[in-house]
Amino acid sequence: MKRQKIHLKAPDNWVNDPNGFIYYKGYYHVFYQYFPYGPRWGTMHWGHAVSKDLVNWEHKGIALFPTKKDDQNGCFSGSAVEKDGQMYIIYTGVRYEESNSEDIHVHPDIHFEATQMMITSPDGYTFDNWTDKKRIIPPITDPSIGHRMHTRDPKIWRGKDAWYMILGSTLDEKEGTALFYKSEDLLNWEYVNRACKPSLPGWMWECPDYFETEGGKVLLLSVIGILENGGRTEEHTICFEVGFQEDTCEMTIPDAYQFLDYGLDLYAAQTTLDEAGRRVMIAWLRMPEKTDAGWIGMFSSPRVVTIRDGHICFQMHPNIRQAYDRRIADISDASPAGYMACFDLEDGEHVDIGGFRIYREDGRICTDRTAVSASVKRNISQTPALQGTAHLEVLVDPHMIEVFINDGAYVITNAVYHLGPYMTSSVPKTIQLHTTTEDI
Ligand code: FRU
Repeated sequence: MKRQKIHLKAPDNWVNDPNGFIYYKGYYHVFYQYFPYGPRWGTMHWGHAVSKDLVNWEHKGIALFPTKKDDQNGCFSGSAVEKDGQMYIIYTGVRYEESNSEDIHVHPDIHFEATQMMITSPDGYTFDNWTDKKRIIPPITDPSIGHRMHTRDPKIWRGKDAWYMILGSTLDEKEGTALFYKSEDLLNWEYVNRACKPSLPGWMWECPDYFETEGGKVLLLSVIGILENGGRTEEHTICFEVGFQEDTCEMTIPDAYQFLDYGLDLYAAQTTLDEAGRRVMIAWLRMPEKTDAGWIGMFSSPRVVTIRDGHICFQMHPNIRQAYDRRIADISDASPAGYMACFDLEDGEHVDIGGFRIYREDGRICTDRTAVSASVKRNISQTPALQGTAHLEVLVDPHMIEVFINDGAYVITNAVYHLGPYMTSSVPKTIQLHTTTEDI
C-alpha cells in the first residue's frame, strides 16, 4: 500500500477531516473522511493510515463504511480511544431523509438525521462493519439540547471517573454550541451539559476537541461562519484557553480566540497524546483544486500543542524536525519529501520559495501564494504583529508550505501548486536548508 513521508495525503480521490487519531499498541493511527469514488466530497467512508513515528505513513485502505440504516449515507467524523486493549471508534452516522435521484452521494436539500455510533476493533486494523449494533446515541429530538441534523463529530476522552464526549452542534442554526455526554462503559451515554458563546460569530461548531495540556485547558472548534469578510473562507478552526469542571461539564470560554493556523486552508483539527505524552494535533488542509495526479486533500504535519504565557502554541513535532537530518546547499538536492528552510526575518525582508513569497511588514509575517495558487481569491496570509526578530522554520513540500514562527507561536500553512525550482531572498544571512535522509 502507498507510503508517504512527513505529510499524509489522499491516497487517491478525496479526503477531508482526520479522525480517530490515536497512539495504540505501538502505532499512530490516523483515519480520515474519505470518498473513494472520485475527487469530490460524497458518501463518507473512513480511510486509514498508520505510522510508527509520525513521520513515515502507510495507507491501509478503508476501515469504516456504511452498513446500517443510521449510517447509510456516510460515516462522518469521530474519534478513537483504547479500553481493555480494544480500539473503540465513535463517529457520526448520517441518513438522508430524501435521496438525490441523480447523485446518491450528496444530500438533495441538507435534510438528514445524525446518530452517534460505535465500532470496535481488537487490533486497530480489523473492523467488523457488519457488527450487530452501531447506534449509541439516537438522533436528538429535544431542540433545547441540540439539533437533530447538525450534531456531530464526537471526541471522546477518559476523565477521572468516567468517559466523556464533546459533540459539535447548533442552537436553531443560529449559534454554535458543544454538547457534553458522559458514560461509564462507552455504550450508554447521558447528556450532561453544553457550552455556548453567544458573542462568537458563526452558526455551527464542527469537530470540537477539548483537552488538558502543558500550561492549561484548551478547546478547539471548527466554526462555520466565523469569518465574514476576512479574506478567507467562512469556516476556520479557532482555539481558546478554557475553564472546565469535569463533574458538571461546565465550560467557561473567554471572549478572545486565536486561530490555530494563520494560513488559508487548515480545518477540522484533531488531537491525541503521543508516545511521550505530548498533546499532538493534526488537521485537514482544504485544497481549492485537485492536483494534477487527481487526488485532493491532505494533512498538516503533527504539531505539539502547549500554552506559553497564556498563548496557545503549535510547535513542530520533534520527530518531524529530526526527520530533516541532512544539510543541503541547494534545494535541488532535496529528497522528494521536501525540505526545511530556516532563517530570521526582519521588517522589509522577503524569501521567495518557487513563487511562494514570505515577507515581513509592520512586524507581521505575511505570505502570498498568488503565483502558486489554484484559487484566484484568498492568497495572502498574515500573523498579528510580532516584536523583535522572528525565527522561521519553513517546511516545503510540493503541495504544502508550513511556516513555523518563533517555535510555534504562530504557524501559517497553505496549499500550493506548481512551485518553481528556485529560492531567492533579501535575507542577508544564509538560509539553512535540511532535507530527509531516505526517500519515500
Ligand atoms: C468538517 C465536517 C464534519 C463532518 C465531516 C463530513 O469538515 O463537515 O463536521 O463530520 O466534515 O465529511
